[in-house]
Amino acid sequence: MKGIVLAGGKATRLSPLTLVTNKHLLPVYNKPVIYYAIEKLVAAGIDRIMIVTSPHHLDDFVQLLGSGQNFTSIKTNKQIQIVYGIQNEASGIADGLYIAKDYIGNDNCLLYLGDNIIEDDIGNHIKNFKSGALIFLKKVTDPKRFGVASLNKKGMVVEIEEKPKKPKSNLAVVGLYVYDNSVFNKMIGQPKSNRGEYEITYLNNKYIEEKKLKAIILKEKWFDIGTFDSLIEASIYKKQQSKKNG
Ligand code: DAU
Repeated sequence: MKGIVLAGGKATRLSPLTLVTNKHLLPVYNKPVIYYAIEKLVAAGIDRIMIVTSPHHLDDFVQLLGSGQNFTSIKTNKQIQIVYGIQNEASGIADGLYIAKDYIGNDNCLLYLGDNIIEDDIGNHIKNFKSGALIFLKKVTDPKRFGVASLNKKGMVVEIEEKPKKPKSNLAVVGLYVYDNSVFNKMIGQPKSNRGEYEITYLNNKYIEEKKLKAIILKEKWFDIGTFDSLIEASIYKKQQSKKNG
């Protein structure tokens, strides 16, 4: 399975921090945000990753990550391979995924939103993935900020709504998605949403229609680095963890 880390977007909520710098290059405790994404993928056994970002910040990512020389594959004990994709406009998460289509080829893929920090170990879920889609949910107090999943009595996801005004549950969709190769066909004819983006929620709902979407509820901490508060909270958490682990 190949990985795609999205690191584009406008990040206007973090201005002026993001006027010059890309959000994913900002520090969370002792590392740039994007390091946590790459480390999570590498720990899950993924050693071929495409970083998708805007033309303005591509050079910065290449300077920081190069071809992946600072990350070691758990399978081969050699460096992982990082390549780059360019998203000209921040037209949505599904659009960012589409840029990796040729890179993914006939493979399955793991899409990771580069501003997410996930503490659960996802390795076994990735290893056991066969087909369909796998998403991850987390109980939150402010679901309106996220994609929100509604579950039926059996615990199956029946619908996902993107940033609903009246959320039907407190289960946010985390920025980590595993898809089989049919995800690219599901984009054919996809309309833009009211906010003018190709939404990832549209694709997840397509898998729900086919009864091929599975969801796992995460237990450990999860951060979406989209606000000043989440940036500082994640830094404090990572500092505490680092002290705890010596
Ligand atoms: O973090 C989880 C949430 O991420 C989900 O619950 C939502 O369903 C999903 O839509 C997304 O919502 P956000 O409002 O947090 O998305 P945001 O615009 O902040 O972008 C998320 C990441 O994707 C971020 O790392 C930037 C990147 N991105 C985003 C867009 C729109 C791109 O690389 N290109 C894009 O065009």
